[in-house]
Amino acid sequence: MSTLETLDLIGIDAVDPGSAVQVVAKGLTLAVFRVGDAFYVTDDHCTHGPGLLHEGCLTGFEIECDFHQGSFDIRTGEVIEPPCTVPLKVYTTIVRDGRVMIEI
Ligand code: FES
Repeated sequence: MSTLETLDLIGIDAVDPGSAVQVVAKGLTLAVFRVGDAFYVTDDHCTHGPGLLHEGCLTGFEIECDFHQGSFDIRTGEVIEPPCTVPLKVYTTIVRDGRVMIEI
């Protein structure tokens, strides 16, 4: 049986609504997105190439990579627009005591 660990990433006030911040923790390079008061955490590296998704354009729940304009749904990691074909890894996100955390 595996036990999930909670990894504390960042304070909620450090991420403005409609934006994203990169957090490096435990060997993971993550993008923490905020849409309204909801938070979503994905891998920051685009699955298509060298783009970093926290530097992309966030529209609603869609993040467009600024390298080749492929895009993903930050809630599911599903590809929305090519040239990306491989889904993005997303993490179960918890907001507790003003902090954004993930299960790993
Ligand atoms: S590196 Fe992100 S779309 Fe190509």
